[in-house]
Amino acid sequence: MAQYKIPVIPGDGIGPEIVAEGRKVLDAAGEAYGFDIEWIEYPHGAEHYLKTGELLSEDTLKELSGYDAIYLGSIGDPRIPPGVLEQGILLNARFYFDQYINLRPVKLLKGVETPLKDKTPEDIDFVVVRENTEDLYIGVGGRASAGKSHGTAEIVRNLYHVKFGLDIETDADEIAYQIGLISRQGTERVIRYAFELASTREKQLASVDKANVMTDIYGFWREVFTSVAGEYPDIETDFNFVDAICMWFVKNPEWFDVVVTPNMFGDIITDLGAMIQGGLGLAPGGNINPDGVSMFEPIHGSAPKHRGLNKVNPIATIWAGAMLIEQLGERDAANAIVGAIETNLIEGAVKTYDLGGSSGTTDVGDDIAGRVMQAR
Ligand code: IPM
Ligand code: MN
Repeated sequence: MAQYKIPVIPGDGIGPEIVAEGRKVLDAAGEAYGFDIEWIEYPHGAEHYLKTGELLSEDTLKELSGYDAIYLGSIGDPRIPPGVLEQGILLNARFYFDQYINLRPVKLLKGVETPLKDKTPEDIDFVVVRENTEDLYIGVGGRASAGKSHGTAEIVRNLYHVKFGLDIETDADEIAYQIGLISRQGTERVIRYAFELASTREKQLASVDKANVMTDIYGFWREVFTSVAGEYPDIETDFNFVDAICMWFVKNPEWFDVVVTPNMFGDIITDLGAMIQGGLGLAPGGNINPDGVSMFEPIHGSAPKHRGLNKVNPIATIWAGAMLIEQLGERDAANAIVGAIETNLIEGAVKTYDLGGSSGTTDVGDDIAGRVMQAR
């Protein structure tokens, strides 16, 4: 029998509740499909940070390097200023493990209502491949005030001076900037992954950028896309400006099969994607390093106001669990879990408030776990 060791970080807010249901369903899948999971719990998140000062230390990251996949609940707590936990835990892990693919299926499951009039599960079924380690997420930026020098701010001042003949020191008294950077290697690998994925699906790949304005960075993205596309002559491709693709996701979601996007735009368009697939409670994601440590999570946050109420929808997290187990090679079990989610939704008797029901988080977990057992 296959044995898997899976580190699990339940995290903050509703994290522990939804992860408990995800574990329940994965354990049931193990029983049905003949594998065993040993869960290794990590306390990281707001509480642990407040108690110990640790976000996610080098030692913890090294320890986690010994595994193939991490199961993550959600991170975020009102007691801690925005950015601290996100950068210190979530982004830290994404970068440390070089999880360069953020895979986000946008699939309207049967039994779920989309806010898009007249669209059906046939129309809404695509995958967003979000670059996950570069772009505006690299964390290079700063602020400067008149008369004060703050290292890199000096460079920005010079840039302004050379490019626009503007002297920021006298023309603006306070500036802030954030730099987006993409590398050829970083862009190529995510685009190649998307082409490979498209080869296994409908052979269509849409690229997202804003090459009409940020010509340096996204012009480069297009250039790299075009050169990789040369290796995949049978895949149909097109370029979309990010603002336009938001419109098409709403108007013609059936046009899309695989979508590849730089990090920042990917963050934004996948929240839109989540809504057209029925809500954040139904949207999973995987932070993937095909040759390293991956990490699976719902794309929603920690919803602190719902914490401890046995109220929220665990399906996004359960689905993320299916993606995790698929990454470990248990494809049948993964399909069974997604199938069980879908039958739960079609029957519609056990559902949480976001889907118009009144069942608890645990009821939905029990229902789906039961269906996974029966499917076998
Ligand atoms: C996401 C989240 C994160 C992101 C935040 C919490 C750092 O919004 O996974 O989409 O921006 O990537
Ligand atoms: Mn996001």
